[in-house]
Amino acid sequence: MRPHRLVVVACLPIAAIGIALARGKKGQEVPPPPPQVDISAPVEPVAPPAPAAPPLFEGGLPVTIAALPNGLPSLSAQGCNACHWAAHDTWSGSAHAKAWSDEVFQTALKSAGNSTACVSCHLPLTTQHDTLAAGYIDGDLTRPRLEANPSFDLTLRGEGVTCAACHVRGDTVIGPRPSTDAPHPVAVSAELSDPAMCATCHQLSWPDGDRPFYDTYGEWKGSAYAKAGVTCQDCHMAPTAGATVPGSDGTLPSHALGADPRRAVSALLSLPKAAVVRGQPVEVGLTLQNTGAGHAFPTGNPWKQYRVDVVLLDAANKELAPVFSTVLARTVDPKPPYKTTADTRLGPGAQRSVTHTFTPGVKGVAGRGAVEVRLVRDKQVIVLQRVMVDVT
Ligand code: HEC
Ligand code: HEC
Ligand code: HEC
Ligand code: HEC
Ligand code: HEC
Repeated sequence: MRPHRLVVVACLPIAAIGIALARGKKGQEVPPPPPQVDISAPVEPVAPPAPAAPPLFEGGLPVTIAALPNGLPSLSAQGCNACHWAAHDTWSGSAHAKAWSDEVFQTALKSAGNSTACVSCHLPLTTQHDTLAAGYIDGDLTRPRLEANPSFDLTLRGEGVTCAACHVRGDTVIGPRPSTDAPHPVAVSAELSDPAMCATCHQLSWPDGDRPFYDTYGEWKGSAYAKAGVTCQDCHMAPTAGATVPGSDGTLPSHALGADPRRAVSALLSLPKAAVVRGQPVEVGLTLQNTGAGHAFPTGNPWKQYRVDVVLLDAANKELAPVFSTVLARTVDPKPPYKTTADTRLGPGAQRSVTHTFTPGVKGVAGRGAVEVRLVRDKQVIVLQRVMVDVT
Protein backbone atom coordinates (compact mmCIF):
# COMPACT_ATOMS: atom_id res chain seq x y z
CA MET A 1 0.00 0.00 0.00
CA ARG A 2 1.24 3.48 -0.80
CA PRO A 3 1.72 5.76 2.22
CA HIS A 4 -0.19 8.63 0.69
CA ARG A 5 -1.99 9.66 -2.41
CA LEU A 6 -1.19 13.32 -2.70
CA VAL A 7 1.18 12.82 -5.54
CA VAL A 8 -0.44 13.56 -8.81
CA VAL A 9 1.71 11.81 -11.32
CA ALA A 10 1.23 13.79 -14.47
CA CYS A 11 0.97 10.71 -16.53
CA LEU A 12 1.75 11.73 -20.05
CA PRO A 13 3.21 8.77 -21.84
CA ILE A 14 4.35 10.25 -25.13
CA ALA A 15 1.53 9.35 -27.40
CA ALA A 16 3.06 6.26 -28.85
CA ILE A 17 1.35 6.81 -32.07
CA GLY A 18 1.51 3.45 -33.70
CA ILE A 19 0.96 4.59 -37.19
CA ALA A 20 0.05 1.28 -38.68
CA LEU A 21 1.45 1.64 -42.12
CA ALA A 22 -1.07 0.20 -44.43
CA ARG A 23 0.35 -2.83 -46.03
CA GLY A 24 -1.72 -2.36 -49.14
CA LYS A 25 -1.67 -4.88 -51.93
CA LYS A 26 -0.24 -2.89 -54.76
CA GLY A 27 -0.17 -5.49 -57.46
CA GLN A 28 0.96 -3.30 -60.36
CA GLU A 29 3.99 -1.74 -58.67
CA VAL A 30 7.45 -2.05 -60.23
CA PRO A 31 9.73 -3.82 -57.71
CA PRO A 32 12.30 -1.40 -56.22
CA PRO A 33 15.94 -1.75 -57.35
CA PRO A 34 18.18 -3.72 -54.97
CA PRO A 35 20.01 -1.46 -52.45
CA GLN A 36 23.52 -0.36 -53.44
CA VAL A 37 26.08 -1.88 -51.08
CA ASP A 38 29.46 -0.20 -50.68
CA ILE A 39 31.72 -3.20 -50.21
CA SER A 40 34.74 -0.99 -49.43
CA ALA A 41 33.12 0.37 -46.24
CA PRO A 42 34.11 -1.42 -43.01
CA VAL A 43 31.29 -3.45 -41.58
CA GLU A 44 29.95 -1.87 -38.36
CA PRO A 45 29.20 -4.46 -35.70
CA VAL A 46 25.48 -4.39 -35.02
CA ALA A 47 24.75 -3.97 -31.31
CA PRO A 48 22.13 -6.35 -30.00
CA PRO A 49 18.88 -4.51 -29.22
CA ALA A 50 18.87 -3.22 -25.64
CA PRO A 51 16.37 -4.90 -23.35
CA ALA A 52 13.15 -2.95 -22.84
CA ALA A 53 13.18 -1.01 -19.57
CA PRO A 54 10.44 -1.27 -16.97
CA PRO A 55 8.48 1.97 -16.41
CA LEU A 56 10.11 4.42 -14.01
CA PHE A 57 7.30 5.61 -11.76
CA GLU A 58 4.23 3.71 -12.93
CA GLY A 59 3.26 2.40 -9.49
CA GLY A 60 3.76 5.77 -7.77
CA LEU A 61 6.19 6.45 -4.93
CA PRO A 62 8.05 4.99 -3.17
CA VAL A 63 9.57 2.59 -5.68
CA THR A 64 10.57 -0.94 -4.72
CA ILE A 65 13.68 -2.30 -6.44
CA ALA A 66 13.42 -6.05 -6.93
CA ALA A 67 17.09 -7.02 -6.66
CA LEU A 68 20.58 -5.59 -6.84
CA PRO A 69 21.65 -5.52 -10.52
CA ASN A 70 24.42 -8.03 -11.26
CA GLY A 71 27.85 -6.48 -10.85
CA LEU A 72 26.83 -3.83 -8.32
CA PRO A 73 27.96 -4.23 -4.71
CA SER A 74 25.21 -1.93 -3.39
CA LEU A 75 22.65 0.66 -4.52
CA SER A 76 24.51 3.46 -2.78
CA ALA A 77 25.72 6.41 -4.88
CA GLN A 78 29.15 5.78 -3.35
CA GLY A 79 29.53 2.67 -5.51
CA CYS A 80 28.51 4.45 -8.72
CA ASN A 81 31.15 7.10 -7.91
CA ALA A 82 33.94 4.66 -8.83
CA CYS A 83 33.07 4.82 -12.52
CA HIS A 84 30.52 7.60 -12.97
CA TRP A 85 32.36 10.20 -10.94
CA ALA A 86 31.25 13.14 -13.09
CA ALA A 87 27.59 12.26 -12.55
CA HIS A 88 28.28 11.58 -8.89
CA ASP A 89 30.18 14.79 -8.20
CA THR A 90 27.61 17.03 -9.88
CA TRP A 91 24.75 15.20 -8.15
CA SER A 92 26.37 15.30 -4.69
CA GLY A 93 26.21 19.10 -4.55
CA SER A 94 22.62 19.21 -5.85
CA ALA A 95 19.31 19.67 -4.07
CA HIS A 96 18.50 16.05 -5.00
CA ALA A 97 21.36 14.69 -2.88
CA LYS A 98 20.19 16.85 0.04
CA ALA A 99 16.48 16.10 -0.32
CA TRP A 100 16.47 14.38 3.07
CA SER A 101 19.39 15.88 4.98
CA ASP A 102 18.46 19.47 4.08
CA GLU A 103 17.80 21.43 7.30
CA VAL A 104 15.01 23.46 5.73
CA PHE A 105 13.21 20.25 4.79
CA GLN A 106 13.79 18.62 8.19
CA THR A 107 12.34 21.65 9.96
CA ALA A 108 9.31 21.74 7.65
CA LEU A 109 8.81 18.00 8.09
CA LYS A 110 8.71 18.37 11.87
CA SER A 111 6.23 21.21 11.69
CA ALA A 112 4.05 19.04 9.41
CA GLY A 113 3.99 16.44 12.21
CA ASN A 114 6.43 14.12 10.39
CA SER A 115 3.64 13.40 7.96
CA THR A 116 4.18 10.38 5.72
CA ALA A 117 2.68 12.54 2.98
CA CYS A 118 5.88 14.57 2.99
CA VAL A 119 8.50 11.91 2.57
CA SER A 120 7.86 9.95 -0.60
CA CYS A 121 9.39 12.45 -3.05
CA HIS A 122 12.21 13.33 -0.70
CA LEU A 123 12.88 9.58 -0.16
CA PRO A 124 11.71 7.88 -3.37
CA LEU A 125 12.81 4.29 -2.61
CA THR A 126 10.96 1.92 -0.29
CA THR A 127 14.22 0.91 1.43
CA GLN A 128 14.82 4.54 2.43
CA HIS A 129 11.88 4.44 4.87
CA ASP A 130 12.30 3.11 8.40
CA THR A 131 8.53 2.70 8.68
CA LEU A 132 5.85 2.15 6.07
CA ALA A 133 2.09 2.64 6.21
CA ALA A 134 0.41 -0.76 6.48
CA GLY A 135 -3.00 0.91 6.24
CA TYR A 136 -4.90 3.94 7.50
CA ILE A 137 -6.91 4.31 10.67
CA ASP A 138 -10.57 4.72 9.64
CA GLY A 139 -9.34 5.24 6.08
CA ASP A 140 -7.98 8.67 7.10
CA LEU A 141 -4.89 9.44 5.00
CA THR A 142 -3.46 11.66 7.72
CA ARG A 143 -3.48 8.74 10.20
CA PRO A 144 -1.32 5.96 8.79
CA ARG A 145 -0.80 2.71 10.71
CA LEU A 146 2.99 2.56 10.62
CA GLU A 147 5.00 -0.64 10.74
CA ALA A 148 8.76 -1.15 10.85
CA ASN A 149 10.26 -1.69 7.39
CA PRO A 150 12.49 -4.82 7.43
CA SER A 151 14.38 -3.66 4.31
CA PHE A 152 15.24 -0.20 5.75
CA ASP A 153 18.65 1.06 4.59
CA LEU A 154 20.05 3.90 6.70
CA THR A 155 22.86 4.72 4.24
CA LEU A 156 20.48 5.06 1.33
CA ARG A 157 18.13 7.29 3.32
CA GLY A 158 20.90 9.85 3.72
CA GLU A 159 21.22 10.05 -0.07
CA GLY A 160 17.72 11.47 -0.66
CA VAL A 161 16.92 11.49 -4.38
CA THR A 162 19.74 9.05 -5.06
CA CYS A 163 21.01 7.54 -8.36
CA ALA A 164 18.92 4.38 -8.03
CA ALA A 165 15.70 6.44 -7.70
CA CYS A 166 16.02 7.36 -11.38
CA HIS A 167 18.39 4.67 -12.69
CA VAL A 168 17.54 1.26 -11.21
CA ARG A 169 14.34 -0.72 -11.80
CA GLY A 170 13.66 -4.44 -11.47
CA ASP A 171 17.23 -5.73 -11.33
CA THR A 172 18.69 -3.55 -14.06
CA VAL A 173 20.25 -0.12 -14.55
CA ILE A 174 18.17 2.26 -16.70
CA GLY A 175 20.05 4.53 -19.12
CA PRO A 176 19.13 7.01 -21.84
CA ARG A 177 20.98 5.11 -24.61
CA PRO A 178 22.12 1.55 -25.28
CA SER A 179 25.38 0.39 -23.81
CA THR A 180 27.26 -2.81 -24.44
CA ASP A 181 30.30 -2.37 -22.26
CA ALA A 182 28.76 -1.73 -18.86
CA PRO A 183 29.73 -4.08 -16.02
CA HIS A 184 26.05 -4.13 -15.01
CA PRO A 185 22.90 -4.76 -17.06
CA VAL A 186 21.57 -1.64 -18.83
CA ALA A 187 18.08 -1.19 -20.24
CA VAL A 188 17.17 1.87 -22.29
CA SER A 189 14.27 4.10 -21.40
CA ALA A 190 13.11 7.21 -23.26
CA GLU A 191 11.25 8.11 -20.06
CA LEU A 192 14.50 9.36 -18.53
CA SER A 193 14.65 12.22 -21.03
CA ASP A 194 10.94 13.03 -20.74
CA PRO A 195 9.74 15.91 -18.51
CA ALA A 196 6.90 13.68 -17.31
CA MET A 197 9.45 11.87 -15.16
CA CYS A 198 10.38 15.12 -13.38
CA ALA A 199 6.63 15.73 -12.93
CA THR A 200 6.44 12.66 -10.69
CA CYS A 201 7.90 14.82 -7.93
CA HIS A 202 7.68 18.37 -9.29
CA GLN A 203 3.90 18.38 -9.65
CA LEU A 204 1.65 18.01 -6.62
CA SER A 205 -1.99 18.78 -5.87
CA TRP A 206 -3.60 18.81 -2.46
CA PRO A 207 -7.11 17.41 -2.31
CA ASP A 208 -9.53 20.38 -2.64
CA GLY A 209 -6.72 22.77 -3.58
CA ASP A 210 -7.68 25.49 -6.07
CA ARG A 211 -4.42 25.13 -7.96
CA PRO A 212 -1.61 22.58 -7.89
CA PHE A 213 0.67 23.11 -4.89
CA TYR A 214 3.82 22.41 -6.93
CA ASP A 215 3.04 23.27 -10.56
CA THR A 216 6.43 23.40 -12.28
CA TYR A 217 5.47 20.78 -14.83
CA GLY A 218 2.06 22.34 -15.49
CA GLU A 219 3.65 25.76 -16.02
CA TRP A 220 6.17 24.27 -18.41
CA LYS A 221 3.51 22.26 -20.26
CA GLY A 222 1.59 25.43 -21.09
CA SER A 223 4.70 27.36 -22.20
CA ALA A 224 6.33 28.01 -25.56
CA TYR A 225 9.23 25.82 -24.39
CA ALA A 226 7.05 22.73 -24.29
CA LYS A 227 5.72 23.52 -27.75
CA ALA A 228 9.28 23.90 -29.03
CA GLY A 229 10.32 20.63 -27.38
CA VAL A 230 12.74 22.26 -24.91
CA THR A 231 12.64 19.93 -21.92
CA CYS A 232 13.49 20.23 -18.22
CA GLN A 233 16.53 18.06 -18.95
CA ASP A 234 17.70 20.42 -21.72
CA CYS A 235 17.94 23.33 -19.28
CA HIS A 236 18.72 21.55 -16.01
CA MET A 237 20.91 18.69 -17.19
CA ALA A 238 22.92 20.27 -19.99
CA PRO A 239 25.84 18.20 -21.26
CA THR A 240 29.11 19.03 -19.59
CA ALA A 241 32.55 17.73 -20.42
CA GLY A 242 33.51 14.82 -18.23
CA ALA A 243 34.23 11.47 -19.81
CA THR A 244 33.75 8.98 -17.06
CA VAL A 245 33.55 5.53 -18.48
CA PRO A 246 35.05 3.89 -21.53
CA GLY A 247 32.77 4.25 -24.52
CA SER A 248 31.26 7.54 -23.41
CA ASP A 249 31.35 10.40 -25.91
CA GLY A 250 33.09 12.66 -23.41
CA THR A 251 30.01 14.58 -22.36
CA LEU A 252 27.57 13.83 -19.64
CA PRO A 253 24.31 15.44 -18.65
CA SER A 254 25.20 17.46 -15.55
CA HIS A 255 23.38 16.28 -12.44
CA ALA A 256 23.93 19.60 -10.61
CA LEU A 257 20.50 20.88 -11.80
CA GLY A 258 22.02 24.35 -12.15
CA ALA A 259 19.27 26.92 -11.87
CA ASP A 260 20.84 30.35 -11.97
CA PRO A 261 18.25 33.12 -11.50
CA ARG A 262 20.43 35.36 -13.68
CA ARG A 263 19.66 33.00 -16.52
CA ALA A 264 15.95 33.27 -15.78
CA VAL A 265 15.20 37.00 -15.57
CA SER A 266 16.17 40.10 -17.50
CA ALA A 267 15.94 43.49 -15.80
CA LEU A 268 15.53 46.45 -18.17
CA LEU A 269 16.01 49.90 -16.64
CA SER A 270 14.93 53.26 -17.95
CA LEU A 271 15.64 56.83 -16.85
CA PRO A 272 14.79 60.13 -18.58
CA LYS A 273 18.52 60.92 -18.76
CA ALA A 274 21.70 59.03 -17.83
CA ALA A 275 22.08 61.38 -14.90
CA VAL A 276 20.37 62.11 -11.60
CA VAL A 277 20.44 65.42 -9.81
CA ARG A 278 20.72 65.45 -6.01
CA GLY A 279 17.55 66.76 -4.44
CA GLN A 280 15.47 66.42 -7.62
CA PRO A 281 12.88 63.62 -7.99
CA VAL A 282 13.59 61.19 -10.81
CA GLU A 283 11.36 58.47 -12.20
CA VAL A 284 13.04 55.10 -12.73
CA GLY A 285 11.33 52.42 -14.79
CA LEU A 286 11.98 48.71 -14.35
CA THR A 287 10.74 45.94 -16.62
CA LEU A 288 11.29 42.38 -15.42
CA GLN A 289 11.07 39.66 -18.05
CA ASN A 290 11.14 35.93 -17.58
CA THR A 291 13.45 35.23 -20.48
CA GLY A 292 15.03 31.97 -19.38
CA ALA A 293 12.95 29.83 -17.04
CA GLY A 294 10.70 27.30 -18.73
CA HIS A 295 8.10 27.87 -16.00
CA ALA A 296 7.08 30.60 -13.58
CA PHE A 297 9.79 32.59 -11.83
CA PRO A 298 10.01 31.56 -9.05
CA THR A 299 8.49 28.11 -9.41
CA GLY A 300 7.60 25.22 -7.11
CA ASN A 301 7.43 25.53 -3.37
CA PRO A 302 5.10 28.53 -2.75
CA TRP A 303 7.12 29.76 0.18
CA LYS A 304 9.98 30.54 -2.13
CA GLN A 305 9.96 34.22 -2.97
CA TYR A 306 12.24 36.74 -4.53
CA ARG A 307 12.33 40.38 -3.49
CA VAL A 308 13.54 42.68 -6.21
CA ASP A 309 15.34 45.77 -4.91
CA VAL A 310 16.06 48.82 -7.07
CA VAL A 311 18.91 50.75 -5.51
CA LEU A 312 20.17 54.19 -6.47
CA LEU A 313 23.87 54.53 -5.56
CA ASP A 314 26.13 57.55 -5.38
CA ALA A 315 29.80 57.76 -6.39
CA ALA A 316 30.84 56.29 -3.03
CA ASN A 317 28.54 53.29 -3.64
CA LYS A 318 26.21 54.47 -0.85
CA GLU A 319 22.42 54.56 -1.12
CA LEU A 320 21.32 57.89 -2.52
CA ALA A 321 17.62 57.31 -1.77
CA PRO A 322 15.46 54.77 0.06
CA VAL A 323 15.46 51.40 -1.75
CA PHE A 324 12.39 50.53 -3.83
CA SER A 325 11.23 46.89 -3.56
CA THR A 326 8.73 44.65 -5.28
CA VAL A 327 8.10 40.97 -4.57
CA LEU A 328 7.81 38.03 -6.97
CA ALA A 329 5.87 35.39 -5.07
CA ARG A 330 2.84 33.25 -4.85
CA THR A 331 1.03 33.70 -1.55
CA VAL A 332 -0.96 30.80 -0.16
CA ASP A 333 -3.12 30.18 2.89
CA PRO A 334 -0.97 28.88 5.74
CA LYS A 335 -2.91 25.60 6.02
CA PRO A 336 -3.92 22.82 3.64
CA PRO A 337 -5.27 22.88 0.99
CA TYR A 338 -3.12 26.02 0.65
CA LYS A 339 -5.46 28.10 -1.50
CA THR A 340 -3.67 30.77 -3.54
CA THR A 341 -4.40 34.31 -2.33
CA ALA A 342 -2.07 36.30 -4.60
CA ASP A 343 0.42 35.60 -7.36
CA THR A 344 2.97 38.16 -8.53
CA ARG A 345 5.37 35.74 -10.18
CA LEU A 346 6.43 35.97 -13.80
CA GLY A 347 5.01 33.22 -15.99
CA PRO A 348 7.27 31.76 -18.67
CA GLY A 349 7.89 34.51 -21.24
CA ALA A 350 5.91 37.05 -19.20
CA GLN A 351 7.03 40.55 -18.23
CA ARG A 352 5.97 43.24 -15.79
CA SER A 353 6.86 46.93 -15.57
CA VAL A 354 6.94 49.19 -12.53
CA THR A 355 8.00 52.78 -12.07
CA HIS A 356 9.21 54.51 -8.96
CA THR A 357 10.10 58.07 -8.19
CA PHE A 358 13.32 58.42 -6.21
CA THR A 359 14.40 61.62 -4.57
CA PRO A 360 18.22 61.50 -4.44
CA GLY A 361 19.55 62.89 -1.15
CA VAL A 362 21.43 66.16 -1.25
CA LYS A 363 24.29 64.71 0.80
CA GLY A 364 25.20 62.02 -1.75
CA VAL A 365 28.65 62.00 -3.34
CA ALA A 366 28.66 63.39 -6.88
CA GLY A 367 30.39 61.52 -9.69
CA ARG A 368 29.85 58.12 -11.20
CA GLY A 369 26.88 56.49 -9.52
CA ALA A 370 24.71 53.52 -10.48
CA VAL A 371 21.27 51.99 -10.48
CA GLU A 372 21.37 48.41 -9.28
CA VAL A 373 18.70 45.71 -9.46
CA ARG A 374 19.13 43.04 -6.82
CA LEU A 375 17.36 39.74 -6.34
CA VAL A 376 17.03 38.79 -2.69
CA ARG A 377 16.02 35.34 -1.51
CA ASP A 378 16.48 34.59 2.17
CA LYS A 379 20.05 35.67 2.85
CA GLN A 380 21.16 35.37 -0.74
CA VAL A 381 21.66 38.62 -2.69
CA ILE A 382 22.26 38.52 -6.43
CA VAL A 383 23.07 41.61 -8.46
CA LEU A 384 20.93 41.13 -11.53
CA GLN A 385 21.76 44.37 -13.30
CA ARG A 386 23.89 47.47 -12.73
CA VAL A 387 23.89 50.52 -14.97
CA MET A 388 26.06 53.58 -14.62
CA VAL A 389 24.51 57.04 -14.06
CA ASP A 390 26.07 60.42 -13.38
CA VAL A 391 25.23 61.95 -10.02
CA THR A 392 25.34 65.73 -10.17
C1 HEC B 1 16.34 12.80 -10.59
C2 HEC B 1 16.75 11.71 -11.41
C3 HEC B 1 18.21 11.34 -11.51
C4 HEC B 1 19.09 11.08 -10.49
C5 HEC B 1 18.85 11.15 -9.00
C6 HEC B 1 20.33 10.68 -11.12
N1 HEC B 1 20.21 10.73 -12.49
FE1 HEC B 1 21.58 10.15 -13.89
N2 HEC B 1 20.37 10.77 -15.37
C7 HEC B 1 19.09 11.27 -15.20
C8 HEC B 1 18.57 11.69 -16.47
C9 HEC B 1 17.21 12.34 -16.68
C10 HEC B 1 19.56 11.39 -17.44
C11 HEC B 1 19.47 11.57 -18.93
C12 HEC B 1 19.41 12.99 -19.36
C13 HEC B 1 19.22 13.09 -20.83
O1 HEC B 1 20.20 12.90 -21.54
O2 HEC B 1 18.11 13.30 -21.26
C14 HEC B 1 20.67 10.79 -16.71
C15 HEC B 1 21.85 10.33 -17.30
C16 HEC B 1 22.82 9.61 -16.63
C17 HEC B 1 23.91 8.89 -17.25
C18 HEC B 1 24.06 8.67 -18.71
C19 HEC B 1 24.92 9.58 -19.43
C20 HEC B 1 24.85 9.38 -20.91
O3 HEC B 1 24.63 10.35 -21.59
O4 HEC B 1 24.96 8.25 -21.37
C21 HEC B 1 24.67 8.35 -16.25
C22 HEC B 1 25.93 7.50 -16.39
C23 HEC B 1 24.04 8.73 -14.99
N3 HEC B 1 22.93 9.50 -15.26
C24 HEC B 1 24.51 8.36 -13.75
C25 HEC B 1 23.96 8.79 -12.54
C26 HEC B 1 24.56 8.59 -11.25
C27 HEC B 1 25.84 7.84 -11.01
C28 HEC B 1 23.74 9.16 -10.32
C29 HEC B 1 23.94 9.31 -8.83
C30 HEC B 1 25.24 9.84 -8.40
C31 HEC B 1 22.59 9.71 -11.05
N4 HEC B 1 22.78 9.50 -12.38
C32 HEC B 1 21.48 10.33 -10.44
C33 HEC B 1 18.41 11.37 -14.01
C34 HEC B 1 18.93 11.15 -12.75
C1 HEC C 1 32.80 -0.63 -12.24
C2 HEC C 1 32.33 0.53 -12.96
C3 HEC C 1 30.84 0.87 -12.86
C4 HEC C 1 30.06 0.96 -11.73
C5 HEC C 1 30.43 0.68 -10.28
C6 HEC C 1 28.76 1.42 -12.18
N1 HEC C 1 28.77 1.60 -13.53
FE1 HEC C 1 27.27 2.27 -14.67
N2 HEC C 1 28.33 1.93 -16.36
C7 HEC C 1 29.65 1.57 -16.39
C8 HEC C 1 30.09 1.48 -17.78
C9 HEC C 1 31.50 1.12 -18.26
C10 HEC C 1 28.96 1.80 -18.56
C11 HEC C 1 28.87 1.85 -20.07
C12 HEC C 1 29.09 3.25 -20.53
C13 HEC C 1 28.82 3.44 -21.96
O1 HEC C 1 28.34 2.57 -22.66
O2 HEC C 1 29.06 4.58 -22.40
C14 HEC C 1 27.88 2.08 -17.63
C15 HEC C 1 26.62 2.47 -18.01
C16 HEC C 1 25.70 3.07 -17.13
C17 HEC C 1 24.51 3.76 -17.52
C18 HEC C 1 23.98 3.89 -18.90
C19 HEC C 1 24.61 5.00 -19.62
C20 HEC C 1 23.97 5.21 -20.91
O3 HEC C 1 24.69 5.75 -21.72
O4 HEC C 1 22.78 4.91 -21.10
C21 HEC C 1 23.91 4.23 -16.39
C22 HEC C 1 22.64 5.05 -16.28
C23 HEC C 1 24.72 3.78 -15.29
N3 HEC C 1 25.80 3.08 -15.77
C24 HEC C 1 24.41 4.04 -13.98
C25 HEC C 1 25.08 3.47 -12.91
C26 HEC C 1 24.65 3.59 -11.54
C27 HEC C 1 23.42 4.34 -11.08
C28 HEC C 1 25.56 2.92 -10.79
C29 HEC C 1 25.53 2.71 -9.28
C30 HEC C 1 24.31 2.17 -8.72
C31 HEC C 1 26.56 2.38 -11.70
N4 HEC C 1 26.22 2.73 -12.98
C32 HEC C 1 27.69 1.67 -11.33
C33 HEC C 1 30.46 1.33 -15.31
C34 HEC C 1 30.03 1.27 -13.99
C1 HEC D 1 11.99 11.19 -7.01
C2 HEC D 1 11.57 12.57 -6.96
C3 HEC D 1 12.21 13.56 -7.91
C4 HEC D 1 12.40 13.46 -9.27
C5 HEC D 1 12.04 12.29 -10.17
C6 HEC D 1 12.99 14.69 -9.70
N1 HEC D 1 13.16 15.53 -8.62
FE1 HEC D 1 13.98 17.39 -8.64
N2 HEC D 1 13.77 17.52 -6.62
C7 HEC D 1 13.16 16.58 -5.81
C8 HEC D 1 13.16 17.04 -4.44
C9 HEC D 1 12.56 16.30 -3.25
C10 HEC D 1 13.82 18.28 -4.43
C11 HEC D 1 14.04 19.21 -3.23
C12 HEC D 1 15.13 18.82 -2.36
C13 HEC D 1 15.27 19.79 -1.18
O1 HEC D 1 15.80 20.88 -1.38
O2 HEC D 1 14.82 19.43 -0.09
C14 HEC D 1 14.21 18.55 -5.83
C15 HEC D 1 14.91 19.68 -6.24
C16 HEC D 1 15.13 20.02 -7.58
C17 HEC D 1 15.71 21.27 -8.03
C18 HEC D 1 16.25 22.37 -7.13
C19 HEC D 1 15.16 23.11 -6.48
C20 HEC D 1 15.64 24.03 -5.41
O3 HEC D 1 14.76 24.64 -4.78
O4 HEC D 1 16.84 24.16 -5.18
C21 HEC D 1 15.70 21.25 -9.40
C22 HEC D 1 16.17 22.35 -10.33
C23 HEC D 1 15.14 19.97 -9.80
N3 HEC D 1 14.82 19.24 -8.67
C24 HEC D 1 14.99 19.57 -11.10
C25 HEC D 1 14.54 18.29 -11.50
C26 HEC D 1 14.47 17.85 -12.88
C27 HEC D 1 14.85 18.68 -14.07
C28 HEC D 1 14.00 16.55 -12.84
C29 HEC D 1 13.78 15.61 -14.00
C30 HEC D 1 14.94 15.33 -14.82
C31 HEC D 1 13.79 16.20 -11.45
N4 HEC D 1 14.13 17.28 -10.67
C32 HEC D 1 13.32 14.98 -11.02
C33 HEC D 1 12.61 15.38 -6.22
C34 HEC D 1 12.68 14.88 -7.51
C1 HEC E 1 14.26 27.15 -20.73
C2 HEC E 1 14.99 26.55 -19.65
C3 HEC E 1 14.23 25.83 -18.56
C4 HEC E 1 13.30 24.83 -18.68
C5 HEC E 1 12.72 24.23 -19.96
C6 HEC E 1 12.98 24.40 -17.34
N1 HEC E 1 13.66 25.15 -16.42
FE1 HEC E 1 13.57 24.99 -14.42
N2 HEC E 1 14.69 26.68 -14.20
C7 HEC E 1 15.34 27.34 -15.23
C8 HEC E 1 16.05 28.49 -14.69
C9 HEC E 1 16.90 29.47 -15.48
C10 HEC E 1 15.79 28.49 -13.29
C11 HEC E 1 16.31 29.49 -12.26
C12 HEC E 1 15.25 30.40 -11.81
C13 HEC E 1 14.84 30.19 -10.39
O1 HEC E 1 15.68 30.16 -9.50
O2 HEC E 1 13.62 30.06 -10.15
C14 HEC E 1 14.94 27.33 -13.02
C15 HEC E 1 14.46 26.97 -11.77
C16 HEC E 1 13.86 25.75 -11.48
C17 HEC E 1 13.54 25.28 -10.16
C18 HEC E 1 13.73 26.07 -8.88
C19 HEC E 1 15.14 26.10 -8.48
C20 HEC E 1 15.35 26.94 -7.27
O3 HEC E 1 16.50 27.06 -6.84
O4 HEC E 1 14.38 27.51 -6.74
C21 HEC E 1 12.98 24.03 -10.28
C22 HEC E 1 12.50 23.13 -9.19
C23 HEC E 1 12.95 23.72 -11.71
N3 HEC E 1 13.48 24.79 -12.39
C24 HEC E 1 12.48 22.54 -12.25
C25 HEC E 1 12.17 22.39 -13.61
C26 HEC E 1 11.38 21.31 -14.16
C27 HEC E 1 10.84 20.15 -13.37
C28 HEC E 1 11.23 21.57 -15.50
C29 HEC E 1 10.41 20.82 -16.51
C30 HEC E 1 9.01 20.58 -16.18
C31 HEC E 1 11.98 22.79 -15.79
N4 HEC E 1 12.52 23.26 -14.62
C32 HEC E 1 12.10 23.38 -17.04
C33 HEC E 1 15.31 26.99 -16.56
C34 HEC E 1 14.45 26.04 -17.12
C1 HEC F 1 5.21 15.39 -4.97
C2 HEC F 1 6.46 15.25 -4.29
C3 HEC F 1 6.66 16.00 -3.00
C4 HEC F 1 5.95 15.86 -1.84
C5 HEC F 1 4.79 14.91 -1.56
C6 HEC F 1 6.52 16.82 -0.90
N1 HEC F 1 7.56 17.49 -1.48
FE1 HEC F 1 8.70 18.94 -0.65
N2 HEC F 1 9.65 19.25 -2.38
C7 HEC F 1 9.42 18.53 -3.53
C8 HEC F 1 10.20 19.12 -4.60
C9 HEC F 1 10.22 18.62 -6.04
C10 HEC F 1 10.90 20.21 -4.06
C11 HEC F 1 11.91 21.15 -4.72
C12 HEC F 1 11.45 22.03 -5.75
C13 HEC F 1 10.57 23.13 -5.35
O1 HEC F 1 10.87 23.90 -4.42
O2 HEC F 1 9.53 23.23 -6.00
C14 HEC F 1 10.53 20.27 -2.65
C15 HEC F 1 11.03 21.22 -1.75
C16 HEC F 1 10.67 21.28 -0.44
C17 HEC F 1 11.21 22.24 0.51
C18 HEC F 1 12.22 23.32 0.22
C19 HEC F 1 13.57 22.87 0.59
C20 HEC F 1 14.58 24.00 0.45
O3 HEC F 1 15.74 23.77 0.81
O4 HEC F 1 14.25 25.07 -0.04
C21 HEC F 1 10.61 21.99 1.71
C22 HEC F 1 10.84 22.71 3.01
C23 HEC F 1 9.69 20.87 1.50
N3 HEC F 1 9.77 20.47 0.19
C24 HEC F 1 8.90 20.32 2.48
C25 HEC F 1 7.89 19.40 2.25
C26 HEC F 1 6.90 19.04 3.23
C27 HEC F 1 6.82 19.58 4.65
C28 HEC F 1 6.07 18.14 2.64
C29 HEC F 1 4.79 17.52 3.24
C30 HEC F 1 3.77 18.46 3.61
C31 HEC F 1 6.57 17.92 1.29
N4 HEC F 1 7.68 18.70 1.09
C32 HEC F 1 6.04 17.02 0.38
C33 HEC F 1 8.61 17.43 -3.68
C34 HEC F 1 7.68 17.01 -2.76
